[in-house]
Amino acid sequence: MIKKFFLRHSNLILSRWIVLVIDVFLMECALIIANLLRFDFVLSELTIYHIRMQMLMLAVIGVISILITGSHKGLIRHTSQKDIFNIIKVGTLTIILLATINYGLFLFDNMNKRLVIGGVEYWMLVPNSVLLIFYPISLFLLLFFRMFIKLAYYNLTIQEKLNRIHVLVYGAGKEGIGVLQTLAGLPSSPYKVLGFMDDHPGKIGKSVQGVPIVNPESVTREFLQKREIEEIILAMPNISEKQKDVIYERLLDLNVAIKSVPPVETWINGELNLHQIRKINIEDLLQRDPIRLDNQTVLREVFGKSVLITGAAGSIGQELSRQLLHFNPSRLVLVDQAETPLFELEQELTEVVQTLESRSYFQKISLCYIVADVSNNDRVKLLIAEEKPHLVYHAAAYKHVPLMEAHPLEAIRVNVFGTCNLADAASENGVEKFVMISTDKAVNPTSIMGATKRLAEIYIQSLNHNPGNKTAFITTRFGNVLGSNGSVTRTFNKQIQAGGPVTVTHPDITRYFMTIPEACQLVFEAAAMGSGGEIFIFDMGQPVKIVDLARNMIRLSGYTPDREIKIVYSGLRPGEKLYEELLNDKERTLPTHHPKIMKAKVRDYAFDEVSRMVGYMTEPVRNGDRRALVRLLKQFIPEYISNNSIYRTLDFDIERERKAVEIKRTN
Ligand SMILES: NC(=O)c1ccc[n+]([C@@H]2O[C@H](COP(=O)([O-])OP(=O)(O)OC[C@H]3O[C@@H](n4cnc5c(N)ncnc54)[C@H](O)[C@@H]3O)[C@@H](O)[C@H]2O)c1
Repeated sequence: MIKKFFLRHSNLILSRWIVLVIDVFLMECALIIANLLRFDFVLSELTIYHIRMQMLMLAVIGVISILITGSHKGLIRHTSQKDIFNIIKVGTLTIILLATINYGLFLFDNMNKRLVIGGVEYWMLVPNSVLLIFYPISLFLLLFFRMFIKLAYYNLTIQEKLNRIHVLVYGAGKEGIGVLQTLAGLPSSPYKVLGFMDDHPGKIGKSVQGVPIVNPESVTREFLQKREIEEIILAMPNISEKQKDVIYERLLDLNVAIKSVPPVETWINGELNLHQIRKINIEDLLQRDPIRLDNQTVLREVFGKSVLITGAAGSIGQELSRQLLHFNPSRLVLVDQAETPLFELEQELTEVVQTLESRSYFQKISLCYIVADVSNNDRVKLLIAEEKPHLVYHAAAYKHVPLMEAHPLEAIRVNVFGTCNLADAASENGVEKFVMISTDKAVNPTSIMGATKRLAEIYIQSLNHNPGNKTAFITTRFGNVLGSNGSVTRTFNKQIQAGGPVTVTHPDITRYFMTIPEACQLVFEAAAMGSGGEIFIFDMGQPVKIVDLARNMIRLSGYTPDREIKIVYSGLRPGEKLYEELLNDKERTLPTHHPKIMKAKVRDYAFDEVSRMVGYMTEPVRNGDRRALVRLLKQFIPEYISNNSIYRTLDFDIERERKAVEIKRTN
């Protein structure tokens, strides 16, 4: 019956006034018991009358004590140490007040006066001997009431929640034990911890709070199935990326969902919050040891300055904007041609800025969102002349290789002309630094996208050395970033959610990957170290086989690759390479003070020559002559050889012409 009552009322919260009434009632009970004990259970009529008067006084004093200490405000089912302390305060205060009244009556009596109520004389309201017995009994009853409710609530309601997810916690250290305590202590917890996994020989076979610690090697699919374990929570946030890789590899084979908890330092008031337990995603699997950023140098570079970001509503632009805010620029001008994503960014950043500005050390930032097309020269000129930013981060671009292969005019218009417009305006208006976000696809390009980015790089580098220019033009080059708009991980996620198949272009295709925050941190670091004219390239780690990436993403979603979700090969798309160029090739790079940033060794071009070349392109763009345009690109960037593209024939034509010229010369 009690069980049913608790289950039915498990969500009921007692009003604080009801708690107050119950507490006073319990104190009254304690007073009666104390009197009974004091008078050996023999009460005369007079004593009963006295007790009634004591109870009246206690009701008043009890309410005052409870209101002063606020002991009625805590949730009974979650009674904590603080609540227990409050109860002790209530009991003590009540005793002190009653004793004080007794003392007052004693003085009154000494003045030969008598307190007479209803014809009965009082010398002491509650005899001191009764008070001494009353004190421990009242504390006991008040605490017992709370403990009874708490235990009954936890035991009866939690035990009943049998549909909780069975989990194992990987790591029986402080984080692991914290996870157990959190999950065991929360009535709303969706998890039940069945065990710990820990490879420390001293811990295996032991238990923590009754939960056994097992050797990770003994945890097999059968082990999990037998115990209906659906998830493993990784509670070892401070191990190295290498150790994590080993653990992930082991766990991925078990076909369970993997979750993780953050380091204990980030727990709120030392307690883990349920929402801090989050699913491991592919970014975690590809994460490398965190990048050490020289925050002071970046701060010096950005603090109090006006910064303009193009492509601000894109994946990289957004992250640049978010991270830049923390370096407290005076103004952030966010430019993009995509109206809705820019609007959404505005909503997000407004909140971030409000939080930042509430900190005393933070100075006001003005944010400005501008819808503009960087290929519109008049618009760009006006914008830069009006804003006169100190720094420009240029991330606006078209980036999809097969799409740009089909639309070379657009690729030239945005990636080349757009960059030239911005760079010219920056130079004319004395912008301090101009940082272009480029890509590994610009190295030995095989696509129109890569070639247009390379031409843009060449343009800004040559402009950097042009006499009269004062702007430092810097290029940052890196490989794919995980989870960016249209990236392979987003496509795979959608395909997995739809039940497959997952399409991979080629079984051998590899790519270098980095997370967006990592890439942006390196952009800031490189920008801060650059003095102009450099192409900085980032260490992307080891290349990742796309088919392995697909397999891991399928396993992370709890499916078995090739069995539950199929992988199909769709063939290389126009302009695509099988292997992306190795950026940090020692032959072609120089080290910098940052271990993850190198400087590319590239040939210098004269600005006049580059500017003339870009000028030649305006005509075919206007006429829509794609082949003429791509031919010009190839003439200017000899290493640009098309791959899997209709423009491959142009390479043969150019080669034939070159040979013909050579033969003519030798004859
Ligand atoms: N995503 C990657 O994996 C990756 C890797 C290395 C380098 N990069 C480079 O970073 C840059 C940005 O990539 P992203 O992933 O953020 O792309 P994205 O498509 O998410 O963002 C590009 C943004 O530029 C804007 N834009 C395009 N044309 C514009 C124009 N004419 N005027 C104004 N805004 C315009 C778009 O609206 C979009 O918001 C690209 O140059 C890309 O080559 C990307």
